[in-house]
Amino acid sequence: MEQTKQKTKMLNTKQAAIFLGVSTKTIYRMEKKGLLHPIRTPGGQRRFPKHSLETYLNKSREFAAPQNPSKFLVKEDENVYLFNSSELKQKSQTHQRINRLEQIISLGGYSNHNQHYNYNNNIKHWIEEWDFKKYQTKTYTHGFHNYPAMFIPQIARKLISVFSEEKDTVCDIFCGSGTTLVESSLLNRNSIGIELNPLAVLIARVKTTPINPKNLTDKLKFIIDEYESIKDVHPYFFTNIDFWFKKDVINDLTRLKQAISKIPEENIRNFFFVCFSNVVRIVSYTRHGEFKLFRSPNKMTDKFKPDVTSEFIKICENNIIGMKEYVNNIFPHTHSRIIMGDATKDNGIPNNSVDLIITSPPYGDSRTTVAYGQFSRLSSQWLDLLPPNIKDIDKELIGGKNNVNLSDPILDKSITLKFSINSIADKDEERAKEVLSFYIDLNKALIQAHNILKPNKYFCLIIGNRTVKELVLKTDTIICELAENIGFIQQGIFYRNIPNKRMPSRNSPTNEAGKTGSTMLKESIILLRKVY
Ligand SMILES: C[S@@+](CC[C@H](N)C(=O)[O-])C[C@H]1O[C@@H](n2cnc3c(N)ncnc32)[C@H](O)[C@@H]1O
Repeated sequence: MEQTKQKTKMLNTKQAAIFLGVSTKTIYRMEKKGLLHPIRTPGGQRRFPKHSLETYLNKSREFAAPQNPSKFLVKEDENVYLFNSSELKQKSQTHQRINRLEQIISLGGYSNHNQHYNYNNNIKHWIEEWDFKKYQTKTYTHGFHNYPAMFIPQIARKLISVFSEEKDTVCDIFCGSGTTLVESSLLNRNSIGIELNPLAVLIARVKTTPINPKNLTDKLKFIIDEYESIKDVHPYFFTNIDFWFKKDVINDLTRLKQAISKIPEENIRNFFFVCFSNVVRIVSYTRHGEFKLFRSPNKMTDKFKPDVTSEFIKICENNIIGMKEYVNNIFPHTHSRIIMGDATKDNGIPNNSVDLIITSPPYGDSRTTVAYGQFSRLSSQWLDLLPPNIKDIDKELIGGKNNVNLSDPILDKSITLKFSINSIADKDEERAKEVLSFYIDLNKALIQAHNILKPNKYFCLIIGNRTVKELVLKTDTIICELAENIGFIQQGIFYRNIPNKRMPSRNSPTNEAGKTGSTMLKESIILLRKVY
């Protein structure tokens, strides 16, 4: 009894600072770095369970030096690393760095997942809060790899919490890098993802596969030793490789890939291939932070001398710490299955078997919106991910082909679509076909979603309207009209600004070079329910 009482004792921020012998500012910093996980009172104040502070102290005392792990965590570009960029240049310290990483992961984890989104049963707040401007988005495995138009995890979290129960099955039919699936595991739901882009499938699988972080640090040492032992390499080759990479970089990436390939366990190998994929982009000539492939003039100089191993270790540190957080917080018996498949077709998921679908489809054809395949191309080539019969993955995605007829019967199922296609066709028939092709595919995906969803269950779509030929395409309205023909009813639409999500805020609505218009600054969260 006495013990229970002591366990639940809560300290406020000042008391926690005195208890740990640090300033209140340090407490805030430690919280930001994920080392402390206070609970919030309804008024938003922090409360620290005393037992978690005690455990933290005991653990940090186990180290000879340095004792306080927060001292060697640094924050750069939204991620937490053990070393700042200049430290990483000192190659000789590689093993020492990995030892420090081992110390970090041996610390206990007390993440309270609710801290990342908790609406405290305030329904007004629930309806209005969709922007999530102040929330961390790279927690757990979410920060493993960039991907275009990633979900803000809190959106998936909020929808899963409200529209499904623990142990339910949640599906994302365009799962991309797997945000919905990661959140499902953290909320004790099983999940299924469907995705056609092989790089996204790899990332989603790695993000949802728990691995003991100690095994990862051991294997990181193994990779570095192997890498250093490989002296002569036959440089990797694909068409135009030297257009995108320096000769030295090609050699170093080849050695690194060979070293990772020697890991026998598939899950661990894939974990490091995802780290490798991040490095590919950093050390290539591609422009930083863009989804389409362009060379950066800043990188095409003698001054650009990327250090492949240092970049790799830096990414591994971030991802191993993320994996530790994930492993400590998921429910052990949940499982995620990612199907490499086409969401417009039957993927073998039994009819009426899914409790909730949450998805964010592409906003339009990849030629004029986000080119997922182009973003993934260099990594996919390095990792041999593309099936031999597929040259351009973007052509396989929805709206990738335009062999459609402008009198397709789908136009009778949505008055808004019919009006939009006719208006575009008056200006440009080919463009109208491309746009129509996207909606025909999207409708097929809605039909498949309807098949797998249980009756009376919810289907949430996050989608933005865009402009083509100076006409705003109301995709949210079109989806609702098409869905009603399939057997869904619309339960509501919420709107959100796009503060964090990486999307082009301007595109070329007329498709003319240099002529842009604003688009996708807001998106809609559509709530459908299957009625028959
Ligand atoms: C908006 S992104 C999803 C991003 C995801 N919510 C995340 O957090 O990473 C849409 C995804 O749909 C995929 N996609 C497009 N057409 C597809 C199809 N026919 N079948 C399966 N996936 C498809 C794209 O490759 C892309 O990854």
